[in-house]
Amino acid sequence: MQTENPYSIAGKTALITGGSRGIGQAIAELFARQGAEVVICSRKQAGVDEVAAAIRAAGGKAHAFAAHVGKLDEIQSLLRQMEERGLAVDILVNNAGISPAAGLDLCDTTPELWDKVMDVNLRGPFFLTAAIAKQMMARGCGGSIVNISTTSALMAQPEIGTYCISKAALNTMTRVFARELGPSGIRVNAISCGVIKTAMGDHTMNDPQRYADMMKVNPLKRVGLPEEVAAAALFLASDAASYSSGQIFQVDGGVLS
Ligand SMILES: NC(=O)c1ccc[n+]([C@@H]2O[C@H](COP(=O)([O-])OP(=O)(O)OC[C@H]3O[C@@H](n4cnc5c(N)ncnc54)[C@H](OP(=O)(O)O)[C@@H]3O)[C@@H](O)[C@H]2O)c1
Repeated sequence: MQTENPYSIAGKTALITGGSRGIGQAIAELFARQGAEVVICSRKQAGVDEVAAAIRAAGGKAHAFAAHVGKLDEIQSLLRQMEERGLAVDILVNNAGISPAAGLDLCDTTPELWDKVMDVNLRGPFFLTAAIAKQMMARGCGGSIVNISTTSALMAQPEIGTYCISKAALNTMTRVFARELGPSGIRVNAISCGVIKTAMGDHTMNDPQRYADMMKVNPLKRVGLPEEVAAAALFLASDAASYSSGQIFQVDGGVLS
């Protein structure tokens, strides 16, 4: 552990999925400001290009790739392109996620919706984690993996049931990987977000009844900002959290208190 500044990630390489906007963008920008070389991906090349260009313009190091994390061939292609550029990941943030506002009762979930949500929120993070962890183990350098989860994994939410289930499985995936990878010096944690002001968070914020219900159980009486999740991700990614693994860290305004 670095004692001078345990929060430093300078010189590390961080892969952040879903870095074109919202929480992923905030994490990429903070990590780059803290001296990490960041690699961001999302489905649309233009979105990640824009964020990476802004990071480089501010003096940071950033690479941008188009990759759909729910498609294993695109994950493989991402890993190949990173290898070609000599990018070896020290920090992986599985941030990309979807929460289709289906307004459906669970019993009406179609196999197509189920697959779509599970592919992006669980299958992609699982196989990306496995691939990156193998690389970390081969390099013998340890590493940190941070999964972006949600309070909805613990508090059942009607209408987005498939999302809740996928993130509850992501939490369990976090704990199992933490146990298996810990002996190799790889820490695995998750951040369990409450409602955060992003395109995804708008679903709750724009529905007055849903927003009022949420505020009743929120001690801080406000939604969170992407930068507040990024700060927690920096802690978990850095040596400051060197003795923390397998944890589901709440960034929710105290909702689960
Ligand atoms: N905002 C909240 O209130 C909240 C609460 C709890 C948890 N979370 C979690 O936080 C994470 C980020 O959410 P956010 O609010 O920042 O969402 P967002 O604003 O909708 O951004 C999602 C990001 O993921 C990318 N993405 C979506 N599908 C993808 C795919 N299949 N492959 C690769 N990239 C993909 C998007 O870019 P493209 O469109 O270009 O692919 C975008 O960069 C998610 O895992 C979400 O579940 C959010």
